[in-house]
Amino acid sequence: MKNVLVTGGAGFIGSNFIRYLLRTETNIRILNFDALTYAGNRENLADLEGDPRYRFIQGNICDAAQVDSVIREYQVDTIVHFAAESHVDRSILGPRQFIETNVMGTFTLLDAARNYWLKENVLPLDSVRFHHVSTDEVFGSLKPGEPAWTEETPYAPNSPYAASKAASDHLVRSYGHTYGLPYTITNCSNNYGPYQFPEKLIPLIILNAMDGKPLPVYGDGQQVRDWLHVEDHCEAIHLVLTKGKIGSTYNIGGENQPANLSIVETICDILDEIDSNPAHKPHRRLIQFVKDRPGHDRRYDMDTRKIRAELGWSPRHTLDQGLLDTVRWYLSHPEWVASIRQKHEYEGWLDANYKLR
Ligand code: NAD
Ligand code: DAU
Repeated sequence: MKNVLVTGGAGFIGSNFIRYLLRTETNIRILNFDALTYAGNRENLADLEGDPRYRFIQGNICDAAQVDSVIREYQVDTIVHFAAESHVDRSILGPRQFIETNVMGTFTLLDAARNYWLKENVLPLDSVRFHHVSTDEVFGSLKPGEPAWTEETPYAPNSPYAASKAASDHLVRSYGHTYGLPYTITNCSNNYGPYQFPEKLIPLIILNAMDGKPLPVYGDGQQVRDWLHVEDHCEAIHLVLTKGKIGSTYNIGGENQPANLSIVETICDILDEIDSNPAHKPHRRLIQFVKDRPGHDRRYDMDTRKIRAELGWSPRHTLDQGLLDTVRWYLSHPEWVASIRQKHEYEGWLDANYKLR
């Protein structure tokens, strides 16, 4: 791993991963290739801009010529692919961009890697790797009592987002099977932590609660997700990159499955404790049940025995501590929060998704 192309590195998980990689690996050059959509924020890594091991390149994974030239110019040997449209609600309101980015973008990257690594043989084959970052949502939804998903569970994606991620996973697998492209895939559960765009449940609830705004809980709030602190995800991806078996997929999860309502209540209680502004206490009274997400998956649960047994990974953060740290992070980064709120797009999204609910 010398010249690493990280796609989507200006987003939530990608930016945390770049930080993690620069802390962990010394002899490395990282190219952060990101289109800077509404979800991409160069500020997430502003403090790294002077680091000679790090370079930002504004680019679109659907642009074959650009992807091709970057891979060649920097002799990229490792691709860690985060770039995606990542929000389920947006995929319900407008699925097209999800197909463009998640399916066509992944295809474009795979083809560029194939051309450079497999057809031209410039780099030794055992030194190259395509790592694809995917989601537990490809497995669908669990009924009460059904066992957790393993790496062998058949795909059954329900939202346009999940379907586009499933399609991209299949494309990666097919490039491995047909052309011999060295790849690994990770399917991870819901991440939370610093720098998450506040359209997702946890940061949205934190910011709304800080402002005394309603806290929208979809349906009955009894949907269940598995939650993982983003740093634990980054550590798992790094382990898979360095020690994972080529052609393998690994499930990653936090081994906790609270109902959404309980997550929201916990955030309220944390803010009651640590927010010095007493105006909105108790925060639980801001909770509002709103119209459910169409096709809403009821329950997720990941069986993570494979990555634990093969690579010795397990999450370091408990959900309670991770949530407390995350609330503290949002309270202590008012400039970051303000910069997101100033983006015209953010208010527009809140109107589009919540006004008519
Ligand atoms: P995010 O929405 O915060 O960031 C996505 C990034 O990709 C942004 O910086 C954006 O500018 C960039 N991007 C989008 N389209 C692009 C394009 N065409 N070309 C180049 N860059 C583009 O997403 P995230 O939450 O950090 O998720 C990252 C990856 O992890 C995604 O593939 C997602 O499916 C997967 N994942 C996310 C979670 C989660 O809970 N957030 C869990 C499991 C898997
Ligand atoms: O499971 C992994 C996935 O987790 C990732 O692949 C996605 O990229 C990521 O966005 C996330 O998807 P979810 O749909 O699970 O995340 P979100 O934060 O949007 O919602 C979490 C749960 O909270 C879900 O059951 C819907 C609910 N919810 C969400 C929002 C935004 C609410 O009740 N109210 C809300 O306002």
